[in-house]
Amino acid sequence: MADRIFLLFYTLIIKPNNLLSMKSDRHNILTWIIFIFILTPIFSAAQYPEAQNELDKKVLSFLNDQSGQWRDMNIPVTDGRILYDLILEGKYTSALEIGTSTGHSAVWIAWALSKTGGKLITIEIDKKRYVQALANFRKAGLSEYIDARLGDAHDLVPSLEGKYDFVFCDADKWWYKNYFIAMESKMQKGGCFVAHNTNMRSADIREFLAYIEKNPAYTTRHDRNSRSGLSISCKK
Ligand SMILES: C[S@@+](CC[C@H](N)C(=O)[O-])C[C@H]1O[C@@H](n2cnc3c(N)ncnc32)[C@H](O)[C@@H]1O
Repeated sequence: MADRIFLLFYTLIIKPNNLLSMKSDRHNILTWIIFIFILTPIFSAAQYPEAQNELDKKVLSFLNDQSGQWRDMNIPVTDGRILYDLILEGKYTSALEIGTSTGHSAVWIAWALSKTGGKLITIEIDKKRYVQALANFRKAGLSEYIDARLGDAHDLVPSLEGKYDFVFCDADKWWYKNYFIAMESKMQKGGCFVAHNTNMRSADIREFLAYIEKNPAYTTRHDRNSRSGLSISCKK
């Protein structure tokens, strides 16, 4: 981090003209690259909660090490923080994730659940990503809060037993409405079904949004801080 702070100092104080100039010579392009390289982790770090205990330190160290390394359609840090805050605010304890990939969102969800006394079931169809996710959960120190399942969520979600108060849906977009319908009777009162990528301009997402927004049993809002779009539908 010290090297990045030095570079930031260099970019802003010593070479500010490079940054502000509209001329696109090689130096200016280099300065912009340095600027973005420095600021991305600094902004990410600003979104991390403060460590309160040893587990927090372990998760933070894992997230810092992984910064910029999530390459499997994983959510950005901003969205991870939104999920984390939602779980703490709602004191949710029984969570389901559809679409684990290599586990970035699951780490944020399970981290919040470690504080509410909850547990996460997460489902992934791709074996390689599932195996990588398991390794990531171990590294983050969160395995005991996560029941990771390998399989097709089209089959696994309808067959889930029990009640849930938090669902994060981030798998195949064309099946979102079906996932929601499969979970409707399993959602606890006050529980929320959160869907990712709802800013996508696809017919499937539009159909899903129309369904949840017209559903009289739920109130739906959207978190505008998420670039990809997060719909949050909570059972009345
Ligand atoms: C956008 S990625 C999930 C990213 C993850 N939530 C994160 O932020 O780290 C979507 C994942 O859903 C998985 N997926 C797609 N269809 C699925 C299905 N029918 N059942 C289970 N997983 C599925 C894909 O293999 C992919 O890894």
